[in-house]
Amino acid sequence: MFLPNWLTAYDGILHAEGIPLTQIAGDFGTPCYLYSTARIRENLKHFREAFAGIPVELHYAVKANPLGAILRLLAREGLGAEVVSGGELLRAMWAGFPPEKIVFTGVGKAVWELELALEKGIRVVVESLEELRTVEGMARERGRYAPVALRLNPGLSPETHPHLATAREGTKFGLDPPGAERALESIRRSETLRLVGLHLHLGSQILDPEPYAAAWEYLLGMYRGAREAGLSPEFLDLGGGFGIPYAPEERRFPLGELAEVIRERIPEGVTVMFEPGRSLVGDAGILLTRVLYIKEVHGKRYVVVDAGMNDLLRPALYGARHRIVPVVKRPGPEREADIVGPICENADVLVREAVVPPLEPGDILAVLDVGAYGSSMSSQYNSRPRPAEVLLHWGKAYLVRERETIKDLIRGEIIPEFLR
Ligand SMILES: Cc1ncc(COP(=O)(O)O)c(C=O)c1O
Repeated sequence: MFLPNWLTAYDGILHAEGIPLTQIAGDFGTPCYLYSTARIRENLKHFREAFAGIPVELHYAVKANPLGAILRLLAREGLGAEVVSGGELLRAMWAGFPPEKIVFTGVGKAVWELELALEKGIRVVVESLEELRTVEGMARERGRYAPVALRLNPGLSPETHPHLATAREGTKFGLDPPGAERALESIRRSETLRLVGLHLHLGSQILDPEPYAAAWEYLLGMYRGAREAGLSPEFLDLGGGFGIPYAPEERRFPLGELAEVIRERIPEGVTVMFEPGRSLVGDAGILLTRVLYIKEVHGKRYVVVDAGMNDLLRPALYGARHRIVPVVKRPGPEREADIVGPICENADVLVREAVVPPLEPGDILAVLDVGAYGSSMSSQYNSRPRPAEVLLHWGKAYLVRERETIKDLIRGEIIPEFLR
């Protein structure tokens, strides 16, 4: 089995940075998310090397994994942040991202969220003409400039899961070409709006650089149009979406190829921005889960584990396939089984038709490549406290998020007087 490079099998036991995963599971319990700072840094280095010599700024997509410790690590590495809600904005600032390094995207920014952004001087990536009017009104009221970028939706369809393509026809995101023209005109006439950038996010888990070349062409065309209208965007933002291999036969998105597409064609004085999420943290996280029962129903074998779709939603939401490996491999022939969680839903299958060595109740399994959109999409469905989260740094494991408790499940709930 091909493993992420921060995991090694030693004496028949999977280790992460020298620590047996059985020990992590024992110390922190299961289910438990485990991340590697070394792997995150390596992914970042890979990104920076691919774009060396190009004026590129990286804004980490907080939604991929908003854990404070991971945000702090990336802020310290000099990254900016891309946020999609007031909550993410406050979280990013709390973790150490300076406001001037944050961009705020999202189709449904509430008034309080826009007010917060304007107050902090954060660049707002506007997604509709109505939002543009709202921001302009707020800026006028305050007697100050609002730095805005426009999110463009030219109708491009990269090859990925339909839920993950966000700049194609039939999606709610951004401004279509006529909308973008009108937005540019409104900004040109405005006394308070300042166009700082143009933004285009194609989607997520894209493995082919071709759609980015088309997106870059489109951005350049819009940039020229903006300049002709007397506006001077400072950045062109190609969003995130760079895919990672979830299966051994898949390749990682070829960042170097994209760098070559844009290298010679960056307008003078313009910064290229990217908003990677998955490609920085995806393969830096695993989910440790314990086998509870092994059963057969109508001739089909099920391995029931203590992590469910509330902990890791991607398989149920996108049909995503994650690799799963036992932490201690028992000898014997491999067999097929569905690895399922305890949730009362048929969709609660962590890995469908997994081929696994012999397993017994109590065994620990590691679900791989869950650092992005794993914990961040978790919920308390079926009244299950969310897992503990642990960060590995130089061979030491740090608890960075406590396992939720039953108290957390009922926090904020009130039994009204008439029921007491
Ligand atoms: C606007 C925007 N930027 C960046 C990202 C990050 O995408 P990825 O994690 O695939 O890099 C997303 C994810 O959906 C997004 O919506």
